[in-house]
Amino acid sequence: MGQAQWTEVDAFLSSLLVGEDDALTEATAAGRRAGLPPISVSPAQGKLLYLLAKTLGAKRVLEIGTLGGYSAIWMARALPKDGHLVSLEYSPRHAEVASGNIARAGLVGVVEIRVGAAADNLPKLAAEGGEPFDMVFIDADKGGYPDYLDWSLQLTRPGGLIVADNVVRGGAVADGLSRDANVQGVRSYLEKVAADPRLEGTVMQTVGVKGYDGLSIARVVA
Ligand code: SAH
Ligand code: DHB
Ligand code: MG
Repeated sequence: MGQAQWTEVDAFLSSLLVGEDDALTEATAAGRRAGLPPISVSPAQGKLLYLLAKTLGAKRVLEIGTLGGYSAIWMARALPKDGHLVSLEYSPRHAEVASGNIARAGLVGVVEIRVGAAADNLPKLAAEGGEPFDMVFIDADKGGYPDYLDWSLQLTRPGGLIVADNVVRGGAVADGLSRDANVQGVRSYLEKVAADPRLEGTVMQTVGVKGYDGLSIARVVA
């Protein structure tokens, strides 16, 4: 029992149920060729994000942390033709790789990447006063999560979902004395979710190809 088994079972379940196509496989390969870190959500997690967006009837999704666009492709595929996914990415290099992957997936008209620090782009997005988002996926620097939660709450409609990746961190989330800034970031994030009467949330611990981690899902109270 351990990582080898988690990887093997993840591969079995993904090949049975997830149905990753060429555009997604190629997005991962292009990221590898370009030297991007191999830290996208797994195929099974991508499918979960897709299912959540579909179940919500989402038309507008916000992502914080694009990398090579793997999770963006999954979520964009859940949207109607006139849907919109805005993805915020700090690294111009990552955004460039993502743009290629999104074009290959035929999603140029749906996905918009905004390059820059999320902390700069979120206030701009709010100031634009566009339609609220149905779902937010937070997956950038973990120290920024508490701040991203505040902006996500401002930007999401009642009944919408705010999802955050990597909140269990191999179990380190339960260690309040951790000196790891990433651990403290996700702990503050979860404390804010718990304390805010506008949110009802949970965390599912996960094991799989990416190790032992977890996904937070919080609903904006209608
Ligand atoms: N959601 C992607 C993976 C994102 S990895 C997927 O599953 O396919 C995290 C990304 O967040 C990296 O590309 C990193 O460059 C970006 N990032 C880190 N700090 C950021 C910041 N302050 N603002 C915006 N993006 C940031
Ligand atoms: C890292 C970031 C992620 O979003 C993730 O899912 C896995 C790893 C990282 O920065 O190492
Ligand atoms: Mg992640």
